[in-house]
Amino acid sequence: MDKLWKGRFTKNTDKTADAFNSSISIDSRMYRQDIEGSIAHAKMLGDTQIIPKDNSSEIVKCLKQMLDDINNGKLAIDTSFEDIHSFVEYELIKRIGNTGKMLHTARSRNDQVATDFVMYTKKETIDLISFIKKMIIGLTNHAKKHTATVMPGYTHLQRAQPVTLGHYLMAYAIMFLRDLKKYEKILSDMDKCPLGSAALAGTAYPIDRNMTAKALGFDKPSLNSIDSVADRDFACDVCYVNSLVMMHLSRISEEFILWASWEFKFLEISEEFSTGSSIMPQKKNPDMLELIRGKSARTFSNLNTLLVMLKGLPMAYNKDMQEDKEAVMDSIDTAKSCIDIFTKLLQGIAFLPENMKTAAQKGFINATDCADYLVSKSLPFRDAYKITGEIVNWCIKNDMVLENMPIDIYKSFSPLFEMDIYNHIDIASCVERRNSYGGTSSKSVLSQIEYVEKELNG
Ligand code: ARG
Repeated sequence: MDKLWKGRFTKNTDKTADAFNSSISIDSRMYRQDIEGSIAHAKMLGDTQIIPKDNSSEIVKCLKQMLDDINNGKLAIDTSFEDIHSFVEYELIKRIGNTGKMLHTARSRNDQVATDFVMYTKKETIDLISFIKKMIIGLTNHAKKHTATVMPGYTHLQRAQPVTLGHYLMAYAIMFLRDLKKYEKILSDMDKCPLGSAALAGTAYPIDRNMTAKALGFDKPSLNSIDSVADRDFACDVCYVNSLVMMHLSRISEEFILWASWEFKFLEISEEFSTGSSIMPQKKNPDMLELIRGKSARTFSNLNTLLVMLKGLPMAYNKDMQEDKEAVMDSIDTAKSCIDIFTKLLQGIAFLPENMKTAAQKGFINATDCADYLVSKSLPFRDAYKITGEIVNWCIKNDMVLENMPIDIYKSFSPLFEMDIYNHIDIASCVERRNSYGGTSSKSVLSQIEYVEKELNG
């Protein structure tokens, strides 16, 4: 078949150059957006009398039929074409002859691809929002059951202070809520329609860009035609937010991989989401979580690909930009599949509060509370800190913990200690006392859950 741009050429393109130049294996995924964009454009050409109304209606009717045919498998996308835009236009002309040749009036593939791509990215961002919502609900549902489940909180992966599992899980839920808000923000930035920018300079035809923008579900047309065909910020935006989501997912996956080990045993992953070893009969491996952690790398690389590809481009469209779709589509596919598998895995996870409690009773995670006890007896914090450090040192040497160190030993470190020290350093009471805004007490965690649920419903 002839190229759309055959006119000035007398020779055929080299076959390897053709293959190298082609993007249809990737951009065929935007066939729906391409046809919908063409329908809106054709209607507008008719309504503004740039082309006769009858011709416009015939084009629209045929494009609708083509969309149905692709959806029903009656029309296969021919991958020998340069891109999806060439295929759709060629098929239209094949079906309705000369009338089809009117479609590309006042349009370029540059504004066409920008429109298709931003429409595709908008739709996928809406999907990502609903995926991430489900994951946040999964986390808050677990958190609700564990507002009083005590576990060690860590800094430097060393036991630090007691927290609740609910608090821990809500930390992740709140991270993902921030990501959700970012998706919503970038979605509103994607609400400008590039169609009608033509090659770069706009057009002399009396087009109605408001009409096409509205028909395609955009808030308004984009402001500057050069920017519109050169802009791929929306692509970077979605790759950036996907990267954040994947970085957060990678962290919680790492956490759960550690917690699934015999050394921690804070949780058990269901068999449906675990794998075995071909040689070691005892193994139950957290492959899904490891894959999520591994796949995060792809999303970071995709963002990098876009930024590096774009950084040296002069205005306006350059063919380098054809590389954008593969990066964005891979980033979106990866983020969606990882969020989905994590949400499903989360449903079957069994947390093991007894093991968490046992771990919380070792490692002096109530040492800060012991110091705070002395502060409550009017000792300055720095002195209280020093005495408690000496007590911990004594306990380590004598194989004891704060809970079972006799009261006379306490008193030998400071006469301020009384029997109520044992209540004060009880792990559950340490947690409940941390009732500061955002803290780990069950009351505070409940209000965090309430906030997140309200945000999700609002
Ligand atoms: N396949 C191209 C892309 O993805 C479409 C735009 C081509 N425009 C052009 N003037 N060659 O970027």
